[in-house]
Amino acid sequence: MWLETVIAVVVGAILWRYLRQYAEYRRQYFILPGHDRYSYLYGSIKLYPGFNEEGLAFDMDTLKRHKYLCHWWAGPVTPVVSVYHPDSVHPVLKSSAPKPRSSFLVSFYDMGLPWLGEGLILSNGSKWAKSRRLLTPAFHFDILKPYMAVYNSCANTMLTKMEAFSVKEEAFELFDLIDKLALDVILQCAFSYQSDCQTSSDSSYTAAIVELVTLWGERTLSPLHFNDTLYKWSAKGKRFYELCKLTHQMSEQIIAKRIETLENADETELQKIVSKKTKDFLDILLLTRTDDKDALSPVEIRNEVDTFLFAGHDTTASGISWTLYSLTGHPEYQEKVYQEVKDVMGDRDTVQWTDLASLEFTTMCIKEAMRMYSTVPSIIRTLEEQLVIHGHRIPKGSMVAIQLWMLHHNPHVWEEPLTFDPNRFHPDKQCLMDPFQFLPFSAGARNCIGQNFALNEMKVTVAKTIKRFRLSLDPSHEVRQVPLITMKPENGLMIQASPR
Ligand code: HEM
Repeated sequence: MWLETVIAVVVGAILWRYLRQYAEYRRQYFILPGHDRYSYLYGSIKLYPGFNEEGLAFDMDTLKRHKYLCHWWAGPVTPVVSVYHPDSVHPVLKSSAPKPRSSFLVSFYDMGLPWLGEGLILSNGSKWAKSRRLLTPAFHFDILKPYMAVYNSCANTMLTKMEAFSVKEEAFELFDLIDKLALDVILQCAFSYQSDCQTSSDSSYTAAIVELVTLWGERTLSPLHFNDTLYKWSAKGKRFYELCKLTHQMSEQIIAKRIETLENADETELQKIVSKKTKDFLDILLLTRTDDKDALSPVEIRNEVDTFLFAGHDTTASGISWTLYSLTGHPEYQEKVYQEVKDVMGDRDTVQWTDLASLEFTTMCIKEAMRMYSTVPSIIRTLEEQLVIHGHRIPKGSMVAIQLWMLHHNPHVWEEPLTFDPNRFHPDKQCLMDPFQFLPFSAGARNCIGQNFALNEMKVTVAKTIKRFRLSLDPSHEVRQVPLITMKPENGLMIQASPR
């Protein structure tokens, strides 16, 4: 009898807590602009068509109805406020609000912890500050300059593969080609790791990342899987953890190989690595002395390696692929990029550091592609203080989604937002933009640490590709966007390349 009483009391207490919280949330959030229909089981999540073209059309419709922000329910008791106008995004990013952590509200970022751990993207507070301080020097100009050789040589490998298709006049899947190029680049630059990832038939790592990102995205739309224990037991959860194991094996292999190199280095070689200005990312992690207050534990090191492997290649792969795809739909802009690249590089095949600033129109096309196909479609923060935006009170503790895709397509901010027009980013026009209107790399303290690295890699790859080939889209192929953690194409991007 006493057992039944205890169970009844516990269940009653949980229900009571939920009901009280729900009543509180209703009072605070239903007064904000938002989606009208609400389900006691799913909140408003079922209204969202999913991470696909229909989902983007839904977002466009929301933009027309609500200019600055709206609220929606990711589950029955999970209110989220979306912001997507410079006036509503600015105060959130300026407030240094942290990334969401598990609490009464589910945390979409915590869902990535089994894979990325508390690396730079997912950590907060002093842990984040320590890693950011430690790793910022890895992105200094002096370090980035020598990477030009790596961007060029990795692009050459990719272009040789493209050439093979071109000779056979065969269409090929661009995203996969670029994904492997971007992985090759980050492995060499950040980890001094030589691999055959571009030429090998083994795609298990890049395929695992695509699947992990998809599973993570799907979980955010499935309230029944919000709970970690339930998710672990589900088929999708089991697959997610299996893939995490696979990616960890890769990062552990990279770390072990570098430790071996460092251990086998004689005193003079080691001195050269320690003192050289171009100490790479992994050397910085491994060579902080154990008595240093910034020294990282082995798990912390692995978390950072997983974080940078993912963030350092999945994003640039998306940015480069969508830029090249955009140019297939606009031969006039493709021709203009070609003329510019020819003018800047002449007969050279190698893009040099000093060329980067001269590739003005190429850069405008890259920026416009990052607006149209926003590389990272949304990011999330938790408010530490209440905010009032255009008369709307967003309570302290709210989970706020900064919808970068919506910000970049807000018709109250951009003229003809669905048209690809690189001229918007002409320096004379860009300087007139609101600084919070175009944020592919986010802004504020938690902005992208790798943005210069990424832009350089993108410029080199786009310039070299367009210099060598005229690209067109396979006419039988329908392109559909999938706005997951990064913007992906649903069935790839089937492209044809003909030599210049
Ligand atoms: C086109 C390429 C890229 C885009 C569009 C991009 C975008 C972003 C965005 C939007 C954020 C904020 C994430 C958040 O608030 O949750 C971010 C953070 C971050 N990015 Fe990038 N990124 C790119 C390339 C890179 C590269 C190449 C690296 C590493 C080599 C990198 C490493 C990171 C890291 C570590 C963070 C977390 C920074 C922190 O919180 O201190 N990203 N990036």
